[in-house]
Amino acid sequence: MKIRALILIIGTWLVTGCTATFTENPDPVEQKINSLLSEMTLDEKIGQMQQVNDGFFGDEEATKQAIRDGKVGSFLNTTGADRVAEYQRIALEESKHGIPLLFGRDVIHGYRTIFPIPLGMASSWEPELAEKAMRISAIEASSMGINWTFAPMMDVTWDPRWGRIAESCGEDPLLTSEFAAAMVKGFQGDLGDPTAVAACAKHFVGYGMSEAGRDYNTTYIPEMLLRNVHLRPFKAAVDAGALTFMSAFNDLNGVPTSGNEFTLKQILRNEWNYKGMVVSDWGSIEEMINHGFAADKKQAAEIAAKAGVDMEMATTCYTDNLKTLIEEGAITEDMIDTYVGNILRVKFKLGLFDKPYDNHVSTDTILAPSHLAVSREAARKSMVLLKNDNNTLPISKNIHSLAVIGPLADAARDQLGTWIFDGQGEDSTTPKQAFGEILGSKMNYVSGLEYSRDKSTKGFAEAIAAAKRSDAILFFAGEESILSGEANARGIIDLPGVQSELITELRKTGKPLILVVMAGRPLGIGAEMEMADAVLYAWHPGTMAGPAVADLIFGDYSPSGKLPVTFVKGAGQIPFYYYRKNTGRPATEDDVTYIDDIPRNSKQLSLGFKSMHIDYGITPLLPFGYGLSYTEFKYENLKLSSNEMTTDGSITISADIKNIGNFETEEIVQLYVHDKVGSITRPIKELKGFEKINLKPGDVKNVSFELKAEDLQFFNGDDFVIEPGDFEVWIGPNSDEGLKGAFKLKE
Ligand code: BGC
Repeated sequence: MKIRALILIIGTWLVTGCTATFTENPDPVEQKINSLLSEMTLDEKIGQMQQVNDGFFGDEEATKQAIRDGKVGSFLNTTGADRVAEYQRIALEESKHGIPLLFGRDVIHGYRTIFPIPLGMASSWEPELAEKAMRISAIEASSMGINWTFAPMMDVTWDPRWGRIAESCGEDPLLTSEFAAAMVKGFQGDLGDPTAVAACAKHFVGYGMSEAGRDYNTTYIPEMLLRNVHLRPFKAAVDAGALTFMSAFNDLNGVPTSGNEFTLKQILRNEWNYKGMVVSDWGSIEEMINHGFAADKKQAAEIAAKAGVDMEMATTCYTDNLKTLIEEGAITEDMIDTYVGNILRVKFKLGLFDKPYDNHVSTDTILAPSHLAVSREAARKSMVLLKNDNNTLPISKNIHSLAVIGPLADAARDQLGTWIFDGQGEDSTTPKQAFGEILGSKMNYVSGLEYSRDKSTKGFAEAIAAAKRSDAILFFAGEESILSGEANARGIIDLPGVQSELITELRKTGKPLILVVMAGRPLGIGAEMEMADAVLYAWHPGTMAGPAVADLIFGDYSPSGKLPVTFVKGAGQIPFYYYRKNTGRPATEDDVTYIDDIPRNSKQLSLGFKSMHIDYGITPLLPFGYGLSYTEFKYENLKLSSNEMTTDGSITISADIKNIGNFETEEIVQLYVHDKVGSITRPIKELKGFEKINLKPGDVKNVSFELKAEDLQFFNGDDFVIEPGDFEVWIGPNSDEGLKGAFKLKE
């Protein structure tokens, strides 16, 4: 008894001691922020809220003076390690308050060592790999003084017309969330370290739904869809500690996202309690004038400030107007203090006040062999084998002769993909180089087409001749990097130029035809897939595209990637995503009457009354989650730990996966769920888990997933709910196949 009493007393003392200490000594960072704010003039505070592009203030001397005068909180696109260090030195040593600068840059999928485009990275279904790649990107970028990247982009999209699908992780909110969190961690690393680079969760929010895939276009997203899909990766980024957010360009349900109090204030700040900083996208505050939401820059500044945008990128609505808006009582200096506090907090958390400005890691790190090795691994794991008839692949290195043809076979810059400000074509190893090194004179290389949009057939004859004197044809098809990325939307998503015509001619040679497709989006490649014996979808793989493709083509490794986005048959089928609803009239394949089979003069209502296209039918070209390998896996023994779950409980769902082929490789095992009846209609399938396993021939692994009732939660328009009822569940190799079970969620 006595001992227990003593413990209680000590316990009370500890608690009260701690509480007292806490109230007397609030977080030292917050104290420093408050102390700085109390010393700063309003102009200096507004200066912190301005981010400018390199060269904004004019020449070098004018720029340095602007830093001394506290007119700027951040630069973007200022390059050169020495120059950045000098600006930082001036900010720390010669400006009145010694506040360091943020140097922002779009380091999206690599700095100089370029990794696959994010859509490719997502095809690896290995978030840890993305974390590793973004850590390397941060190490390289920070060696040049960059301390803030505008990445990761986590806009969920269903639209391959949208050029920025390349920068996305595809169509699924869970997969995107896992990658978003991993990339945030990769960029930021250990915040005290000189290699830490602040991440930016962008573009908040709904930008991936730009109508018709036309960039910057209007979006309408009901709150149910917003919360159940589009907001989820951003919440994951908050939980992963993302230091910054970027408000987007799009008009969301009538309110531009850079002036949207519902998303920026209610959701981000009030519901998620986010303490980081929000930067507008480039000019997105001023663009509220074009949106027809603000009459002029002053009103745009007022709207963005009231919504809670802390820093303005590139334009000067804030700098020109915030002071007047305060004088007129439209906004208050307290609001400004909050916003500047958010900015200073990022600078403190990054350790910029303490970090010596010239203590960058060595620039020798750029393109380090270990970085290139990870780039090669990531490229290899991002490629998806779409077709492999009669085991056309892998091919032997002892092949007598191989024709290497196509506009992307030796496109050093294009293989890097979009958003590679610092990536350079000369750093790349192209497929032509890699295959040439392995095969020597056994490679018959002919480009056939000079670039992806080439419409000239003048190279056809030489390409066909090379094919005829080879044992097999490796054709590198696709899109140049400029055809995807920001602003580069396409209405037609087929292979550009006359690539399809050349593939048709090559088919006629009767030689085994292997297509490797490098692109920034899922292209409509149904016709070309039909003609080919094997198809490897490589996305834009980055610096090490050549060696990575060779690794797979020659079977040093098996392809293991799976699609993070549905492949449609053509643009007219968009949107087509796997978690679509069932409709009141779902069709089966038997219901479809295809356009050419409709008898002439058919009666208007003779085709059945089902939800389908009479040309595309009811299936996409390839489902989400799809991807082949050089082996075959058998899924068996689906087991549920119980066929009932309580609303605060969980069950375990497992299956045995067996490698029944002859090749060791990885398999991405996927868990899907269908909530059969809900207070709002529910998707036909939702991804709830995935695991990547490695299996040797003959190996069996038991893969089990814990499914919690909270994983079944959704927003029904009023609230987040977990609704009792019947569920179907699948463990499978993609969203279309799998072992099926069922369980009941009970009150
Ligand atoms: C893009 C952002 C990018 C910013 C800065 C904008 O046009 O939408 O994603 O980070 O420019 O370069």
